[in-house]
Amino acid sequence: MRRKLAAGNWKMNGTSAALAELEALSAAPADANTDILICPPATLITRAAQVVSDTSVYIGGQDCHAATSGAHTGDIAADMLIDAGASHVILGHSERREDHGERNEDVRTKAQTAWDSGLVTVICVGETLSEREADNTLDIIGGQLAGSIPDAATGENLVVAYEPVWAIGTGKVPTLAQIGDVHDFIRMRLERRFGEGVGRTVPVLYGGSVKPTNATEIFSVSNVDGALVGGASLKAADFQPIIDALAAS
Ligand code: 13P
Repeated sequence: MRRKLAAGNWKMNGTSAALAELEALSAAPADANTDILICPPATLITRAAQVVSDTSVYIGGQDCHAATSGAHTGDIAADMLIDAGASHVILGHSERREDHGERNEDVRTKAQTAWDSGLVTVICVGETLSEREADNTLDIIGGQLAGSIPDAATGENLVVAYEPVWAIGTGKVPTLAQIGDVHDFIRMRLERRFGEGVGRTVPVLYGGSVKPTNATEIFSVSNVDGALVGGASLKAADFQPIIDALAAS
């Protein structure tokens, strides 16, 4: 059985005061089949890892560099994330693809470096509105999967997040049928490339305007194994009901 994952991406939000939200999350009773991951800004990773130590909450980075070390001002190496207490890293988020010009091949190289360091990668894919309107969604997703995921994927080192760019931070959510079509397609592509054993065990998350009010119906869609949540992960009062909905699904 695939494990479920409720992942929060705090993006460029949060200073010391935000650690109280993490304390509240880690104090809640854990569900044995549901993992919780919070990816705070890099400045909080060390302290966040201390807050969740001895709980079932994992801490992740939001990016890492493709190189293991060196002259890359402002960047973070995968080993540094591990050293700070992270177990996961988000790679290829559409905001990184947009803001930093990251291409599929960049994401793929970063993912291999992250795996070499022992991080679990949450690799993001998703179409823009114009790509969806042009009926290119599955072509785009297929290309991103093929280009961004290295060959050495396993059920333990890889999570895929489907995040339609037009649904991020907009309050717009695809229909359940649209989510299901893309998640079934991702599952099919993972099984075809990596074999059924691996392809069936990689969790596939949905992301984009997930809220307490829509989480239950999104988690009812087949091949949706959890969520990657932005805005609604910043407050424990919003994120906890999403975690609970996933545990109950
Ligand atoms: P929102 O949940 O704020 O739409 O953000 C989704 C996202 O980009 C998570 O990585």
